[in-house]
Amino acid sequence: MLGNFSYKNATKLYFGEDSLSFLKDELKGYGKNVVLIYGGGSIKKNGIYDSVIAILKECGKNIAEDAGVMPNPTAEKLREGVKIAREHKADLLLAVGGGSCCDYAKAVSVSVHCDEDPWDKYFIRFDEPTCEIVPVGCVLTMAGTGSEMNGGSVITNHETHQKIGHVFGEEVMPKFSILNPRFTMSLPKRQMVAGIYDIFNHICEQYFSGEDDNVSDYLAEGLMKSVIRNSLVAIENPEDYEARSNIMWAATWALNTLIACGKATDWMVHMLGQAAGGYTDATHGMTLSAVSLPYYRHIMPYGIAKFKRFATEVWGVDATGKADRQVAEEGLCAMESWMKTIGVAMNLTELGATADMIEGIADATFIFDGGYKKLEREEVIKILKESL
Ligand code: NZQ
Ligand code: ZN
Repeated sequence: MLGNFSYKNATKLYFGEDSLSFLKDELKGYGKNVVLIYGGGSIKKNGIYDSVIAILKECGKNIAEDAGVMPNPTAEKLREGVKIAREHKADLLLAVGGGSCCDYAKAVSVSVHCDEDPWDKYFIRFDEPTCEIVPVGCVLTMAGTGSEMNGGSVITNHETHQKIGHVFGEEVMPKFSILNPRFTMSLPKRQMVAGIYDIFNHICEQYFSGEDDNVSDYLAEGLMKSVIRNSLVAIENPEDYEARSNIMWAATWALNTLIACGKATDWMVHMLGQAAGGYTDATHGMTLSAVSLPYYRHIMPYGIAKFKRFATEVWGVDATGKADRQVAEEGLCAMESWMKTIGVAMNLTELGATADMIEGIADATFIFDGGYKKLEREEVIKILKESL
């Protein structure tokens, strides 16, 4: 393992079909005023809202509701959420939903006791929180982002076409998260699949960096194999508990900082996808799938040994008698074929992007240098054009 790192994860997880029953115990640790944060209403249709409200009432909590958190939550909505939490003197922000609700709750948590505009402070200037942070708890209803066990918070500003993530420290991570795989069963298939690709790509982003022999890469390969296997079961039978529970658990471990230990990490697919998301407001996982193959095919020559290992270890490509480059290419072909089988978006056009957006998307793409090739602007343009 190269480099120096520390590892601590501040989130307590409850996993399984009965996990919501632990909410009662957790609530004892917080004051009376709870803001219940949720999205566009899926939790009312599938009954999760009623179950959570019943527990909150049984525990004698004063509940304020902050509903309507949209996928890709906006800066405007964030300001509204801060106001609600302030007025209610929130002791706990309880997010019930997918990554959007969890991310949003974290952004509210660091802004309630802060006078500055949250978008400017955290998403433009990337300041660290300087004020009291309201604790966040999460009841997860969608597997994908890993937001339930990390400090990430991604907010979109429609006025400026910017979608920006701030990775906060352990003090902002959810204090607890409840993961009941049954809660994900009411997801539309398209969202399930977008979540699956998001998980897979989180693993790739950390895997495709470095040249040393590293425990994190072996963990990543195990997670990727599990995601591939269980995705194929889940698209045939979305009600398969074993598959859905494995997907949910893999999502958490794909992005809870563990497999980034000792790794430089790449994150360029996310930077490209996020920038495209700022223009299209498309589903997060789909923006990643749309840019992945042009990006990986572009950087593959610079990281051939790792792409060869990806092909043989993750996709079972037989390397006998083949040049390294051919093996690496076959690995990406296997990934492409899996992506088509599960039904993710294969280009940005189907997500609403058009050629006249390319320059703006390129301008909005943060360029990192942890991967095998630090991109020049022309390369970003080329990859985006190939992704259309
Ligand atoms: O709003 P509701 O009605 O709840 O519907 C949601 C939403 O329309 C629906 N949904 C969720 N659970 C459901 C359900 N529908 C039926 N049954 C259920 N059980 O699914 C839709 C998408 O939900 P959302 O929370 O937006 O999806 P996801 O979990 O993919 O979160 C996406 C956001 O997370 C950010 C993304 O950029 C995006 O803004 N990310 C956060 C990360 C982090 N914290 O580390 C990392 C990721 O890379 C990502 O950037
Ligand atoms: Zn993601």
